[in-house]
Amino acid sequence: MLRLAVCVSGGGTNLQALIDGINNKTIKNAEIVMVFSNNPGAYALERARNAGIEAVCRSPKDYPTRDDFNREFLSVLKSAEPDLIVLAGCLLNIPPAVVEAFPGRIINIHPSLIPSFCGKGFYGLHVHEKVLERGVRVTGATVHFVDEGTDTGPIILQKAVMIRQDDTPESLQRRVMEEAEWKILPMAVDLIAAGRVSINDGHVVIDRYEDIDL
Ligand code: GRF
Repeated sequence: MLRLAVCVSGGGTNLQALIDGINNKTIKNAEIVMVFSNNPGAYALERARNAGIEAVCRSPKDYPTRDDFNREFLSVLKSAEPDLIVLAGCLLNIPPAVVEAFPGRIINIHPSLIPSFCGKGFYGLHVHEKVLERGVRVTGATVHFVDEGTDTGPIILQKAVMIRQDDTPESLQRRVMEEAEWKILPMAVDLIAAGRVSINDGHVVIDRYEDIDL
């Protein structure tokens, strides 16, 4: 059973997709052992409690320095003894010490087709604002492993979403979540829990990739 620690900062719709996926068995052989948030007001914490999952919050504001917060963050994560850490709408800069403590065991969902519209400053609604500003015709979402960079780790899954001419950043964000994020994040967790995902020379290899129905 793959032990998941899920890090959240906002509404938690991606967390909910994981909870629902485990409950309806589209995600097999995995359990969420802890939900962590840096934001006391995150509704994602409420979703965790409603699902009977340990919900832990540590706010950077409560620590004298960012280093103090990062040490506590790492300590809390280690206490959960996770096999995989999932960043699901997590707006924290992940400290190098956390990446080093869990090499190849942290994944993130990003609301664009990396390497487009990603990196510093590209999070939440800002991503979709820039997508519409640029006038691209296709966007989507990406699940990737987390390394020391920002949105730079090996890509696991991606799913495209067509842009409509009447889209607003809000309508586009919603459709990218519905059509892409909430599908590929649970799928990526299920594939990892099934032992079908490996990293070879910086690229992800998925066993029987052709069988995947995105
Ligand atoms: C969403 O915009 C998602 O694309 C990004 O974080 C935001 C909040 O997601 N990953 P959630 O509803 O908290 O999962």
